[in-house]
Amino acid sequence: MALKVLPGPKLSERTTLRLGGRVQGEIVVTSPEDAAGLDHALPKVASRALMLGWGSNLLAADRDLDLALVTLPGAMSPEVVRREGDAAIVRIGGGFLLPKLINWAGAHGLSGLENLTGIPGSVGGAVAMNAGSYGTQTADVLERVRVWSADGGVTWLAPDQWKAGYRSFTPVGPSIPWLVLEAEYRLASGASQAIAQACREVMAKKKATQPVNAATCGCAFKNPEGDSAGRMLDLCGFKGKSVGGMAFSTLHANFLVNLGAGTSDAALELLARAREAVKSRFGVELELEVRTIA
Ligand code: EPU
Repeated sequence: MALKVLPGPKLSERTTLRLGGRVQGEIVVTSPEDAAGLDHALPKVASRALMLGWGSNLLAADRDLDLALVTLPGAMSPEVVRREGDAAIVRIGGGFLLPKLINWAGAHGLSGLENLTGIPGSVGGAVAMNAGSYGTQTADVLERVRVWSADGGVTWLAPDQWKAGYRSFTPVGPSIPWLVLEAEYRLASGASQAIAQACREVMAKKKATQPVNAATCGCAFKNPEGDSAGRMLDLCGFKGKSVGGMAFSTLHANFLVNLGAGTSDAALELLARAREAVKSRFGVELELEVRTIA
């Protein structure tokens, strides 16, 4: 089947921070095999590509953007492709939503993803950011990843073909842009009830400490080695601080929130002020965790 090209939406409709202008077009990849056609399709739409999942880690500029969005529908169900003793290898498309995968795994007595409960992301986005929480990172449970890249085409990568770090995942070989088409997770057998209970506990912890229902992009800054950006920002008085409709959460000082009428300029201004304050008080240069699209 050919790739579908749709008119470009506004990124404010596709990002959880609700910011971002209109892109040139959207290319929908309905099957991994179709991805091979991206080499030809991308330059016809725009000069740059943006691989988009749930849009939960993006801060996009509020102007027309010369970008081709690449998206994957998430309808396909997860599938156990192999069992190895107590372990199951589960294959799932990059567009599938991580919370749905976690529910599915629990219902099928498969453990390993519990600590990732509450992360609002697609499987592809979680892989590309090596999303993590409470001591588990996505790469810890990955068996293989099928990617498309302009120079490598469609190919499966094994763990020795990527470098995973704190909120980073870099395929060795494929250069930017690259897209996660499918992922295989290595999960362990477990009791469904215990898995569901562990997920509930993680969610309760998140709800108590993070603004899970607000329009946010998650943590704005990476934690510096051995410390927490949220703690530092809190001590600098940034909890609840706002600029032009954008604010740091009153619950957690490292969560950037769109209060409703926020703009990307206001967001960048607030982030710059926060970095300056932390630099002058702690001598630490905070690094952005959210991806900016300009
Ligand atoms: N803290 C404050 N004030 C705040 C926020 C936090 O004093 O406003 C203190 C907390 O009391 C705690 C410490 O800072 O003592 C750490 O806070 P927390 O446990 O909330 O974790 P975090 O380091 O702020 C990290 C990740 C989160 C992840 C949680 C749980 C980063 C930048 N953040 O937050 O990830 O959910 O741990 O594992 O790595 C994300 O990546 O977008 C994200 C939210």
